[in-house]
Amino acid sequence: MSDEFKNFWKARAELVEENLKRELNATNTIDEKVLQAMEYSLLSGGKRIRPVLLMAAADTISNDGEKFLHVACALEMIHTYSLIHDDLPAMDNDDYRRGKLTNHKVFGEATAILAGDALLTLAFEVITRQENVEPKILLSVIREISTAAGISGLIGGQSIDLQSEGKKINLATLRTMHLGKTGALFLAAIRSGAILAGASDEKLDALTKYAENFGLAFQITDDILDVVGDEKSLGKPIGSDARNEKSTYVTLMSLSEAQTLAASTVENAVDALKIFGDEANFLRELVKFLIGRRK
Ligand code: IPE
Ligand code: IPE
Ligand code: MG
Ligand code: MG
Ligand code: MG
Repeated sequence: MSDEFKNFWKARAELVEENLKRELNATNTIDEKVLQAMEYSLLSGGKRIRPVLLMAAADTISNDGEKFLHVACALEMIHTYSLIHDDLPAMDNDDYRRGKLTNHKVFGEATAILAGDALLTLAFEVITRQENVEPKILLSVIREISTAAGISGLIGGQSIDLQSEGKKINLATLRTMHLGKTGALFLAAIRSGAILAGASDEKLDALTKYAENFGLAFQITDDILDVVGDEKSLGKPIGSDARNEKSTYVTLMSLSEAQTLAASTVENAVDALKIFGDEANFLRELVKFLIGRRK
């Protein structure tokens, strides 16, 4: 990725960071402990890909992605909640996340569950703070995001993931699981950005195709990194999938086959953007960069 794009990503991620802090400070909490637990995970780093993607998708339509910072930050809250719960003993039972002890290791399981719940609900409160958007448009964005976070998306995928531990599932089920647990939130980020910016049906369809391939390539890479990654740069343990006998792209096919599939999925994502000009260059660069990532 060129320096120009890296700097652009960094600047947008900083905006997200500042606004997440503002949103937490603005809550009128009646309990400091759960707020501390929320803050611990939400402000502990992370690549901020989902909010950056939402704004980048909006940029391809109207070049004013920053306008939609509230909805973008809501996605990061939902993502962070999903990580807190994903790490719980009843799920993946992991001790490190974003280079720090997992939420339940610091605050205990009960508070970690509540912090996750509170981030999920705060996300929807934050969406209502988005200004300069017609209520009808905001409603369709809420539909995109709530559908993605629920049983048709993230939760459905997480449930398939847990049920598939210790089993041999087929490729179609694995794909459904990945598109749900990881892909759905990326899809919601990109489609919401496009809808907020007033995309035509043709552009929305193209971005949807990009998003599906983006999500799939991202989780294939996550599966690969769980085997060949470096714990220090990843900030989370490797070998977690093997320990939990997870079904992943690396258990269903060889490492090099998974790498080839990730690369062709990225090509499909880039191909989906052919109706766009330079305004989609960041999206093109981002998906290519992410399969080569180390964190
Ligand atoms: C990790 O997501 C969980 C998956 C869906 C694979 P990220 O790799 O985006 O994690 P952070 O937000 O940068 O920590
Ligand atoms: C997590 O998938 C997906 C969600 C959190 C919804 P993983 O379990 O593979 O994510 P990591 O590897 O723990 O980040
Ligand atoms: Mg998991
Ligand atoms: Mg996990
Ligand atoms: Mg993983």
